[in-house]
Amino acid sequence: AEVHHHDFIVQATPVKRLCKTHSIITVNGQFPGPNIEVRNGDTLIITVSNRTPYNVTIHWHGIRQIRTAWADGPEFVTQCPVKPGGIYTYRFTIEDQEGTLWWHAHSSWLRATVYGALIIHPKEKKSFPFLTPKREYPILLGEWWDQNPIDVIHEAISTGSAPSISDAFTINGQPGDLYNCSSKEITIIPVKPGETVLLRFINAALNTELFVSIAGHTMMVVAADASYVKPFLTAVIMLAPGQTTDVLITTNLPISRYYIAARAYSSAESLPFDNTTATAILDYDCGCLPGPTQPPPAQAILPAFNDTLTVTAFSAAFKSPTPVKLPSPVDEHLFFTVGLGLFDCLPGQICGGPNHTRLTASINSVSFVLPYSSSILQAHQLAVPGIFTTDFPAKPPVEFDYTGKNVGREQPEPATKLYKLKFGSVVQLVLQGTSVVAAENHPIHLHGYNFYILAEGFGNFNPARDTVKFNLIDPPLRNTVGVPMKGWAVIRFVADNPGVWLLHCHLDVHITWGLAMAFLVEDGVGVLEALEPPPLDLPLC
Ligand code: C2O
Repeated sequence: AEVHHHDFIVQATPVKRLCKTHSIITVNGQFPGPNIEVRNGDTLIITVSNRTPYNVTIHWHGIRQIRTAWADGPEFVTQCPVKPGGIYTYRFTIEDQEGTLWWHAHSSWLRATVYGALIIHPKEKKSFPFLTPKREYPILLGEWWDQNPIDVIHEAISTGSAPSISDAFTINGQPGDLYNCSSKEITIIPVKPGETVLLRFINAALNTELFVSIAGHTMMVVAADASYVKPFLTAVIMLAPGQTTDVLITTNLPISRYYIAARAYSSAESLPFDNTTATAILDYDCGCLPGPTQPPPAQAILPAFNDTLTVTAFSAAFKSPTPVKLPSPVDEHLFFTVGLGLFDCLPGQICGGPNHTRLTASINSVSFVLPYSSSILQAHQLAVPGIFTTDFPAKPPVEFDYTGKNVGREQPEPATKLYKLKFGSVVQLVLQGTSVVAAENHPIHLHGYNFYILAEGFGNFNPARDTVKFNLIDPPLRNTVGVPMKGWAVIRFVADNPGVWLLHCHLDVHITWGLAMAFLVEDGVGVLEALEPPPLDLPLC
């Protein structure tokens, strides 16, 4: 196994998109940021230097960080942020993981522009469990604002309303030729005829689930969230923010140019969303013809914005490649409601939401608050009292309903509450969408773990009716599950990684409103089951 050293200089960089130049935060001046490529078993040592006026942390999304929670990255959870002018070195080893993951800022809304691919190849002399592709490309889907995204969120928080929607979607940083001023800068994916090509899709968008299709080409899905899946064919894929999907395509069409197109899946029909389409070009004959004589690319067909049937069928197609040994028996049966709500605030009164806003989000009626004066992990390690409590409720404390009917207004408690898990306990968690405000999908991401998705469904989860639907044979292993709008999902994992691990909605605006909680997983027996000591350069608050 190798050790890879990287320097990440986080800095302001002028970038022009949609005819306007503004200064965005980048890593090493690149947008998207640098791709990291390693092999399973390798070690990464990444020194992050913060040359911005903001607090910065970097999260390695989907990396298990076994015993190295100090390198996980969410601000005030596993570390205090790297302050302006500060430096922190993330060190971790890839243990039994391969596939497509990514890295992104985990402080404020910096991840709008601070993200990149993290590709884990199989160990040396090992190959993929599928036809070896001739070429492979990471394809990062993003969201672009004409404004500084930090200002977008500050504006939203200070006015108490939803943030303004993005002005474009991007593919590898470029909106593509359906937007004004963007035609020349479109992302080109060069291929040759008669090849198998691996495309590694990553949804790095802040707040939007995205459909993707490729003109004329059927995709064979082979992996998701750096876990292999039983291969299946599809004309369209859908990724929620945080998710990755690897597909194989065969370049067996006439030599030409084919659109790769991405646009929003909007589960909540009442919410405004960015209805534009990002494009890239799969080019069979790259660079051979000068611009104007090139044929127009073949059109990609995308589902309607609200095509939930397609999304449900797509997510039901995911299975593990072979039967799995599902952890059992279950030690912890947890039931979490995830949803948005409104705080009451009579005229002239202060509202109870974040920064006195009206909109809020919560899990089991607790709206997660970052401690700011310490990181939770440090407070846990040094036994500092008063930073967090471990009384997060195992079940919803109030009546709930997926429709929001009969519930009244949810008045969540803003708090830093964790749920404590014994090392090695088997956890089964029902995630129930509730909808006091708008019903929409919540892509729920768990740090430090992969989990099996046993089932998904609509309505209220009903154990008597729904337990029989569990896939106990070959459920898919993932790190982010889309909890369907007005529905539920059930996941299972073994708490075998000590530390403090955030569970949250990967729509950034929802984490801002408090749609998060954290597990505190205790050490097991002996050093191999214990959290490593903190690095000496760990930033302090
Ligand atoms: Cu990719 Cu806590 O997130």
